[in-house]
Amino acid sequence: MRDKIIETLLDNRGNFTSGEYLSKILKISSEAIEEYMKVLKSEGYNIEEVNRKGYKLVDNTTDLLTYDSISYKLDTKYIGRNIIHFETIDSTNDYAKKVALQEKDGTVIISEEQTKGKGRIGRQWVSKSREGIWMSIILKPNIIPQKAPFLTLIAGASIAKALNNLGVETSIKWPNDIIINNKKVSGILTELSAEIDKINYIVLGMGINVKTIEFSQEISDIATSLYKEGHKVSRVDIVINILEEFERLYLQYINHDLKNEILDICRKHSAIIGKDIYVIMNGEKDLVKCLDINKDGNLVIKNNENVIKEIMSGEVSIRGVEGYV
Ligand code: BTN
Repeated sequence: MRDKIIETLLDNRGNFTSGEYLSKILKISSEAIEEYMKVLKSEGYNIEEVNRKGYKLVDNTTDLLTYDSISYKLDTKYIGRNIIHFETIDSTNDYAKKVALQEKDGTVIISEEQTKGKGRIGRQWVSKSREGIWMSIILKPNIIPQKAPFLTLIAGASIAKALNNLGVETSIKWPNDIIINNKKVSGILTELSAEIDKINYIVLGMGINVKTIEFSQEISDIATSLYKEGHKVSRVDIVINILEEFERLYLQYINHDLKNEILDICRKHSAIIGKDIYVIMNGEKDLVKCLDINKDGNLVIKNNENVIKEIMSGEVSIRGVEGYV
């Protein structure tokens, strides 16, 4: 019943739906409707109530990344068909790893806040309540473990494509950062559990700064958010677009080993191809020229002795010559 009420309000988004109409189509009393509205409001739904007009969902998209808000429009076969939503959690990646074996392939863990959000290379990922999208996808593909790192590229391509669908131009700093105006707006953390020849599960964590305006001093030079860059985009729409783009590209890769579209997106949006960059690995920082991303998704660079090399994503960091990119 609760879901039907949300659906009706969503169908009538922007307009009032009278209590009378709701009780007629849902065949429940107006007192019961009032009770459901109280519950929905307490869950965070922003419902405006006006005498003799009824109820209006003012902006369901501003805050809640619940199953109801996302599944309403989501057009995927299995990515995000099961969504576990939290108001707060330590880390969606950590939770996803705990439940990965018993949850369905394609399950999405999403939280309004993370108290111990994790970045790559042991870094912290600041994830304040309702300021961004903090989500992890549980995947169980039937591919060899060596093919797993490419999923980070698929995630990056999906985020760039999703934001592009919503009118936001971004670039991708291989392998896992999404950039606007030379600053990081999103990062990806891929974690793998595997045997030598078999993947148990992959947890693909994505963090996107949507509404954050103030960043701490340590990261204010390198981090940004969509709002800060002038893009007022709904978090629900971003999640839906990412999950749809991700499923399409992911299925191409795991079912048919098709990488072209993914690589095209990564190359077209690349923040670093053609530039001089620093590659930081095992504490060493080398200035190199970035030439391309090859067919395996590895970065092709030319070092200062003019030797051409391939770099795999792993634990490498990239920095621009004049700053973050
Ligand atoms: C990075 O750029 O260093 C990766 C950041 C990844 C952050 C996301 S937020 C959702 C998921 N849960 C985490 O603890 N981390 C990832």
